[in-house]
Amino acid sequence: EKGGYATFMEKEIHDQPHAVRDTLIGRFDAEGRLALDELHIPEDELRAVTKIVIVACGTAAYAGMVAKYAIERWTRIPVEVELAHEFRYRDPVIDQHTLVVSISQSGETMDTLMAVRHAKELGARTVSICNTHGSTIPRESDAVLYTHAGPEIAVASTKAFLGQITASYILGLYLASLRAGVTGVEPDVEGILAEMQAIPAKIEQLLGQMDRVKEIASYMADSRSVLFLGRHVGYPVAMEGALKLKELAYIHAEGFAAGELKHGPIALIEPGQPVFVIVPSPDSEHGLHGKVVSNIQEIRARGARTLVIAEEGDEDVVPFADVVIRVPRTPALLAPLLTVVPLQVFALHLSTAKGLDVDQPRNLAKSVTVE
Ligand code: F6R
Repeated sequence: EKGGYATFMEKEIHDQPHAVRDTLIGRFDAEGRLALDELHIPEDELRAVTKIVIVACGTAAYAGMVAKYAIERWTRIPVEVELAHEFRYRDPVIDQHTLVVSISQSGETMDTLMAVRHAKELGARTVSICNTHGSTIPRESDAVLYTHAGPEIAVASTKAFLGQITASYILGLYLASLRAGVTGVEPDVEGILAEMQAIPAKIEQLLGQMDRVKEIASYMADSRSVLFLGRHVGYPVAMEGALKLKELAYIHAEGFAAGELKHGPIALIEPGQPVFVIVPSPDSEHGLHGKVVSNIQEIRARGARTLVIAEEGDEDVVPFADVVIRVPRTPALLAPLLTVVPLQVFALHLSTAKGLDVDQPRNLAKSVTVE
């Protein structure tokens, strides 16, 4: 059942091209346009949405943070992302024009379920992005958009994360197409979807070149702390990379927004400190590539060991990188579907190198059904 892999997690990392492909399948009509028949909320109501609030926990919340960048860019609807357990105990500003989108692999996370109930009481419309058919959260939501990542057995979430980003992007593109003409700025929905269709093959390619990451992980088994830096969609990816390392290898790890470095975290940099940096594409329209390269230069000058995740062909990073991990080229908003993969592989192999139980890390349960 592990498909020839030593652990479920390794298998699930290799399932990721399918997780993305299968989550995209069946979301189009005969003309190739996005059609979300399963989203049982009338189009008029969706057109009237004035705010989106994404609620989730852990890895699912990081998928939500990634989605915020894309959904706001494509729909011009303001998007907030909140940890479900914080949202639940606030008095959030919500009405019937608010769409509350929950993201949950299991569909049973109590914190997220309570947030959905809270949202309903406040009159919001609720959509569940979920990987488990018939689970509680989709049953209690007005609508559901299933991720088709397949069952995830390892406690640490991997393929569900990619499915969650894919599904929330589909939702964003669908809302954008419903609002075409309303916003004046229409994204090239077909072009973006075509790029999304190309992602599974790129993940496949990336998975074929992970030997170096495995090797680095094996000689970093004694690390006491590892930092992760990213900007824009690379920021939630940095936090996800840190979370994987905490839960799987029990190593202190933290993800930062690279722009925040000079506001405090740079004080942590001392000789030998390993830092992963997720570098945006040099072609990104947000123009952050140069700024992140400068961050690498700054931390390297203070002795950091820089492990740089950069696009193929990006030579600017080379002089400041101890290690360069290459990812295939893709538009900036889709990059998380690729850049997170080496971080998952790194945590997996570091955990293995320490002789730990990859699939069942200590103190954790796959589905957290208590508050
Ligand atoms: C991290 C992880 C957890 C879950 C979180 C939410 O690897 O697995 O952080 O992402 O507990 O779980 P779901 O998605 O089932 O609501």
